[in-house]
Amino acid sequence: MITKPTIDRIMEATDIVEVIGEFVQLKKRGANYVGLSPFANERTPSFTVSPAKGIFKDFSSGKGGSAVTFLMELEKFTYPEALKWLAKKYGIEVEETVEAFENKEEENHRESLMIVSGYAAKFFHESLLETDEGKSIGLSYFKERGFTNDTIKKFELGYSPDQWEAFTGQALKEGYQQQFLEESGLSVKRDNGSLYDRYRGRVMFPIHSFTGRVIAFGGRTLKNDKNVPKYVNSPESEIYHKSNVLYGLYFAKKAIREEDNCYLVEGYADVLSVHQAGIENVVASSGTSLTVEQIRLIGRFTKNITILYDGDAAGIKASLRGLDMILEEGLNVKVVLFPDGHDPDSYVRNFGTNGFKKHIADNKKDFILFKTDILLKEVGNDPIKKADVIREIVESVAKIPDSIKASVFIKECSYLLQIDERALLSELNKIRMAKAKKDSQQQTSRPAPLDEPHFFDEPEIKVEKDESNQEKEIIRLLLLYGNKVIDWDGIANTYIGPFMIAELSDVEFEYLPAKKFTEIYRKEVENGVLPDEQYFIHYPEKDIVDITVNLIATKYTLSENWYEMHKILVNDEQSNMKATILGAIFHLKKQKVGKILQGLRNELQKTNVEADQEILLNQYMQMKKVEKTISDYLGSVILK
Ligand code: CTP
Ligand code: MN
Repeated sequence: MITKPTIDRIMEATDIVEVIGEFVQLKKRGANYVGLSPFANERTPSFTVSPAKGIFKDFSSGKGGSAVTFLMELEKFTYPEALKWLAKKYGIEVEETVEAFENKEEENHRESLMIVSGYAAKFFHESLLETDEGKSIGLSYFKERGFTNDTIKKFELGYSPDQWEAFTGQALKEGYQQQFLEESGLSVKRDNGSLYDRYRGRVMFPIHSFTGRVIAFGGRTLKNDKNVPKYVNSPESEIYHKSNVLYGLYFAKKAIREEDNCYLVEGYADVLSVHQAGIENVVASSGTSLTVEQIRLIGRFTKNITILYDGDAAGIKASLRGLDMILEEGLNVKVVLFPDGHDPDSYVRNFGTNGFKKHIADNKKDFILFKTDILLKEVGNDPIKKADVIREIVESVAKIPDSIKASVFIKECSYLLQIDERALLSELNKIRMAKAKKDSQQQTSRPAPLDEPHFFDEPEIKVEKDESNQEKEIIRLLLLYGNKVIDWDGIANTYIGPFMIAELSDVEFEYLPAKKFTEIYRKEVENGVLPDEQYFIHYPEKDIVDITVNLIATKYTLSENWYEMHKILVNDEQSNMKATILGAIFHLKKQKVGKILQGLRNELQKTNVEADQEILLNQYMQMKKVEKTISDYLGSVILK
């Protein structure tokens, strides 16, 4: 775990405008900065950063929080990853405590694998650029393929010498352990226990995690021998799960966000050539068929995928089924075919950036229509085949979660397939019904909701909603005034936070974030700490940060003349501080009592046993008294 002093130092050093400014173009407006939301598609900027509070709030997506939250949302970092990113940016040394032994062990293990992979990338890169063999064989090959020095450096391309132990020998000499060399797949164990290099005489493509660390390699042979595998790739390891990784994502993610689109190609060479041509939003699935994990990975950065195929018809047909998965994930898929004999790599080298872009613009097709086209070509006049195609297309459309989008496709397909739109729609509905049935069958293990009389439904739902509002109001007051003092009935310097917490000790919060929040607050008060707004903005748990930022950053409070408005609002609240606080507390208590009374009434209705009825009635009368006391109190003390 990162130590508290380190976290404090990181928080102190962090300038939220500077951090967010690396990803979002910000303009100063009044006391705040605004920009276009990186989380949503918008034309008018609603993304607001308040340097004074150290928070951002995105009114399009509803996301908000500190600089740490921002990195977690945008870069998909974990909490410690985000802290480490900031520490690196601000040159702060990170102190970590040893956590539970096993955890640390596991983390050390992964870290060791990453370290040895990083070392290997450096070794291969240097051997490419600085050894005679590397230069004459590896580098000249890359040059011949048109890769510039910048590309070679950026992607850390390398060369592994054509010897049995060039890398392994050097690594062992420098103290890297056998275990990690073997587990990372860089070295292979002989029967006698000694190690040799997995990659020999190959050019090396390091594979980076999406945070930029080397986790695996692909090594390409330079021989034209059919018996030698073209690529040798890292085996699965604790740091490399092939199905979760996309080649090039680390270098592409910024452009993917900016372009709101991700190009998907097949090979390493395609990524490098297209990227080098200035089209940086490109990643590769590295020769395997796309997995759900990879789609979700892309989906964190954009909802639009454009697949660039080289023109091998059999391969395309085989992959069509797999692409339905992308639709199911709610992403938009477009497809571009390249002419026979071309792949994205060769095309962009032959026709340049503009030619490449033009080809895409002229040829990109929505996946469903693309699929319809391809399948239709095989139908000819065979009505049975045609029926099969129709069913298959409608099945794809049924995967689209957005029903409006689906109906648009149905319309277009009805034209392409020359079939009545209504027939397609009824087929679509059939498939949806079957799916809904299947889904509901899977859920039968869950108890069915109780059939309650209708008139109980509505008030109950309403109470619940109000309740969370009342609970939120308590949190808002704690955030705003918790660490302020007032004179309370002649007792000077009463801290509002601890007072409220004590007053609420008999109240059970039901809205989960509020419950958690008050528990944290209570604990800190017991430790003699008064947590403030900043404490909760930087709290390491998302639901706490969310409720905090949502309560302190409304469009209104962050707007340009926020200060002026806020002063008025706050003055109003402050001049009546006692009423504000007691009002919130007693409104909440009244609600809770109301709920208890409702529960007792329900029980009374259900039971016929006289003794039980008497007990319940007693409880009921007592609660009624409590309710009356609270009402009187609210009536006399509270003005609003
Ligand atoms: N691939 C693999 N093993 C193979 C062949 C291919 O892992 N034996 C993967 C690699 O990730 C490769 C991708 O599939 O990048 C696409 O294959 P291919 O088009 O043959 O490779 P390119 O990278 O395009 O290589 P080149 O252009 O140099 O032929
Ligand atoms: Mn190729």
